[in-house]
Amino acid sequence: MGVTQVAQILALALASSVLARGGHSSSFGSSSERFFPQFETERFVMNKPAQYDRGMFTPLETLDALSHSEYTTFGHPAFPKYNVRTKKTKFCDGTVNSYTGYIDVEARHLFFYFFESRSDPAKDDVIFWTNGGPGGSSSIGLFMELGPCKVLDEKGPTFHEHSWNSNANIFFIDQPIGVGFSYAEYGESVATTEEAAKDIAAFVAIFFENFEQFKGRAFHMAGESYGGRYLPLFAAEIYDQNAWLIQNGLTPVNLSSVMIGNGMSDIYSMLPAYYVMQCENASLDPILSVAECVAMKKLIPRCTRWMKAECIDHFDAINCAAATSFCQTSIESPFWKTGKNPYDMSSDCEGGLNETFCYPVISHLSRYLSKLDVQKHIGVDPPARGNFSAANMDVSAAFALTLDILYPTVDHIGALLEHGVRVLVYVGSYDWICNWVGNEQWTLAMEWSGQAAFVNQTLRDWTVDGKFAGRTRSAKGFTFATVHAAGHMVPYDKPVESLKLIQRWMAGEAL
Ligand SMILES: *[C@@H]1O[C@H](CO)[C@@H](O)[C@H](O)[C@H]1NC(C)=O
Ligand SMILES: *[C@@H]1O[C@H](CO)[C@@H](O)[C@H](O)[C@H]1NC(C)=O
Ligand SMILES: *[C@@H]1O[C@H](CO)[C@@H](O)[C@H](O)[C@H]1NC(C)=O
Ligand SMILES: *[C@@H]1O[C@H](CO)[C@@H](O)[C@H](O)[C@H]1NC(C)=O
Ligand SMILES: *[C@@H]1O[C@H](CO)[C@@H](O)[C@H](O)[C@H]1NC(C)=O
Repeated sequence: MGVTQVAQILALALASSVLARGGHSSSFGSSSERFFPQFETERFVMNKPAQYDRGMFTPLETLDALSHSEYTTFGHPAFPKYNVRTKKTKFCDGTVNSYTGYIDVEARHLFFYFFESRSDPAKDDVIFWTNGGPGGSSSIGLFMELGPCKVLDEKGPTFHEHSWNSNANIFFIDQPIGVGFSYAEYGESVATTEEAAKDIAAFVAIFFENFEQFKGRAFHMAGESYGGRYLPLFAAEIYDQNAWLIQNGLTPVNLSSVMIGNGMSDIYSMLPAYYVMQCENASLDPILSVAECVAMKKLIPRCTRWMKAECIDHFDAINCAAATSFCQTSIESPFWKTGKNPYDMSSDCEGGLNETFCYPVISHLSRYLSKLDVQKHIGVDPPARGNFSAANMDVSAAFALTLDILYPTVDHIGALLEHGVRVLVYVGSYDWICNWVGNEQWTLAMEWSGQAAFVNQTLRDWTVDGKFAGRTRSAKGFTFATVHAAGHMVPYDKPVESLKLIQRWMAGEAL
């Protein structure tokens, strides 16, 4: 999740669609046009004739060559607009090499952390992690959920035994620009997942091209929440970029899998599922009154019909925004009045949704990352220094204005599967905002050549150390799994189970 700014997002998407209809209706025209994806031809065309022979470009070979105090800049002639600056930074995990740096896209700068594996960095897979939002910093994933250290109190970083770098090399990226320590020099911003995907794909290619040591290594793209929209598009961009890399004499990225935790991949499945989560015993007893549930039940068919007509069968930006905002209002409002944590229905929202997303513990990582000595140590550029915010609401609002969330990524996921990229969809069972019911529904409805085999499976239990850990079904490289009694941030709630889950997944074993 980004910590989910999804709640915020959904709220913002609603607010902005209403606003746009009132005051800025012209923004709809331009933003919807943007969504006929101008399929990334720009870079391809620009560099078409060039062949990059080895003599033109000296890779760094090994990260050991890097300095501790200064950034080393590396780029590649195939990506003239892009550079990566990185340095060795000793912190968070004393047992491995760790690195921080920026991906520079001309005047735009994306911050990342990279930790080598605690087992065998020279052989282990590489994981890319992003939080959601849009606007959520991946420092939430790093310092609160699955990174090598956690910052959960004022004492600062403490070693995390169940970190996902236990047997994988891992990146955490603040993206798109404006998020976390990422910034743009002239205030430009990214407001669609399609745009964000180009920078990520270039970064991944440059990274592997420069660090021979990792070339060809199995690569997994992971994240949560709005990552359900980000990751399928990022992975598709990287997959399709491979053809171009090969054509130009470069090594393709060995894209092995996509891992989506509590994702928002299809809002049209998610909205009706809110009714199930709050009025049926899907994970916990119903939390709304009989009267509220009866009133809501009557609205569901109307919602699904309207969204099908204006969002799915054909897409009309204004009508689709109206349909989703009507459905959000009628299905979500009663939930917000309960005071429950939308990321974990088993608890009440502590500390307010707008400041800490119901997780006051987030304030510790924000305070840690706000310290000037920490910022200098990890190499934050001066323009990005100052008080750290784990969520950028301007980025969230910009994505809401382009209606980015209204474009499901289910077809991308099906297509990735057809191309041999495995996909794992895991969902903490107590999450409401990106719940398992909505996720299960689209996984079953998804049309692809493995659908019959997948749908044919019944959910079976999976266990860790003999104990029930959740339920799962799997076929032809596609796996759906619930994580029992976890909320939106699965690794935060269930560190042992989540590590086992991804270890079995990366090893290609059944859960
Ligand atoms: C890609 O990774 C897989 C492991 O997932 C490995 O078996 C395969 O050899 C790798 N491919 C290349 C070209 O290195
Ligand atoms: C809801 O499900 C739980 C666990 O399956 C069960 O213990 C509980 O009795 C159920 N409640 C109702 C009202 O059916
Ligand atoms: C958060 O919400 C509370 C109560 O609604 C309000 O008093 C406070 O100003 C809000 N904080 C921010 C940062 O919006
Ligand atoms: C940063 O936060 C501190 C306290 O949390 C506050 O006093 C200060 O004004 C903030 N600085 C900026 C530039 O917002
Ligand atoms: C569905 O399951 C049944 C029994 O487990 C099996 O015989 C059948 O071949 C399966 N169908 C598909 C499409 O996998």
